[in-house]
Amino acid sequence: MSHLLHRSLDAEPLLAVGGQGIYLHTADGRQIIDGSGGAAVACLGHRHPRVNAAIVEQLSQVAYVHTALFSNAAAEELADFILADAPGGLSHAYFCSSGSEGMEAAIKMARQYFLEIGQPNRTKFIARRQGYHGNTLGALSAGGNAMRRAPYAPLLSDAFSLVSPCFPYRFQASDESDEQYVRRLGDELEAEFFRLGPENVVAFAAETVVGATTGCVAALPGYFKQVRKICDRHGALLILDEVMCGMGRTGTMHAWEQEGISPDIQVIAKGLGGGYQPIGGILIGKRIIDALRAGSGSFRHGHTYQAHPVACAAALAVQKVIREDDLLPNIHAMGERLMAGLTDRLGNHRHVGDIRGRGLFQAIELVSDRATKQEFDPALKMNERVKQAAFDHGLAIYPMGGTIDGNRGDHICIAPPYIATAADIDAIVARLGDAVDDAVASV
Ligand SMILES: Cc1ncc(COP(=O)(O)O)c(C=O)c1O
Repeated sequence: MSHLLHRSLDAEPLLAVGGQGIYLHTADGRQIIDGSGGAAVACLGHRHPRVNAAIVEQLSQVAYVHTALFSNAAAEELADFILADAPGGLSHAYFCSSGSEGMEAAIKMARQYFLEIGQPNRTKFIARRQGYHGNTLGALSAGGNAMRRAPYAPLLSDAFSLVSPCFPYRFQASDESDEQYVRRLGDELEAEFFRLGPENVVAFAAETVVGATTGCVAALPGYFKQVRKICDRHGALLILDEVMCGMGRTGTMHAWEQEGISPDIQVIAKGLGGGYQPIGGILIGKRIIDALRAGSGSFRHGHTYQAHPVACAAALAVQKVIREDDLLPNIHAMGERLMAGLTDRLGNHRHVGDIRGRGLFQAIELVSDRATKQEFDPALKMNERVKQAAFDHGLAIYPMGGTIDGNRGDHICIAPPYIATAADIDAIVARLGDAVDDAVASV
């Protein structure tokens, strides 16, 4: 019996003992394709020699310094590297150890900005149902996943309110055009600003492409332009959570590049360090930094492990590989191949209602009836069944239930590493197709 508290007390997961490229090796001798990099994390696959070498090199210099006392070269270089061309006006980076910590930092930075510029009344945040921003209490307060919130609801902050996500497959009316749906969502957001009092709102927070909770749902064209305008009109900030969809995952370094807007604060994590070290962070717009500089002079927040040298060295190596090996075009090409393959294999499947996503960030939504979009009975745990069946076919994917409202619906996320080849993509599609067939046959 393990003394490690696993995700489930009923089952022990497979023991991973090694990895190479797109494969993970388990203690029972299996070689499994890592088709989702865990939760869209392992963007360069496993045991990348340049990343491993950078970590060892950093350890040979210095493993840790505290940021109240010292800076370190790896963190300085990482910030310079990812912000070299000031993407979207983002000028500074703060590095922490996870996506949740990044979200906490974004929330506090946004609030502090308004204190610095003399608007202390701004204390409210608007986020979206079915968004996920992390599991710490602040980030969970901003999240809209009913299942994750429920046990802790009495502890969550009422500074956060939720509006509808842009989720066309589930919530766009059949007689509604894309433009009408986007406008309806804009009206709802605007109404929420007025309900709270626009002068009281700090920020609107959203995932640019929604990840785990709904399964790789990109917004319709024009949605984020409208959101940006509404935030600007009311003097509020826009926080984009790109923990899952950012740092190349959707085919551009930042997912917002495909929306024609940029955020005031961006949260990053998974693709930043590719899982080689725990690292997350925020990228901050210049006007916010200018306000801090003209005001109190410091960000009133911090963690012992912020800007950790080894984590930053690993992330810097990951980012250099992405750039030096010119992986963005591969993400784009392999993303198209993945979409074409999934459409070919599962596009007419009775139990696959939707195939969606961008770049190497795609999902299938499972349904009991394609025509009516009726979901499976949650008790069947269809997404778990597909996960298990996929393991049997030598494929790891990221399953999730609660697609529609936190309780109902099932989807599977596929997020291969950026180094995936055409043969890897074809193998993922073939194995996932077989897994879906087996899972459906099992009920
Ligand atoms: C969009 C998004 N934000 C925040 C988080 C939280 O990140 P972490 O689990 O590293 O705390 C996640 C994790 O899945 C995420 O997908």
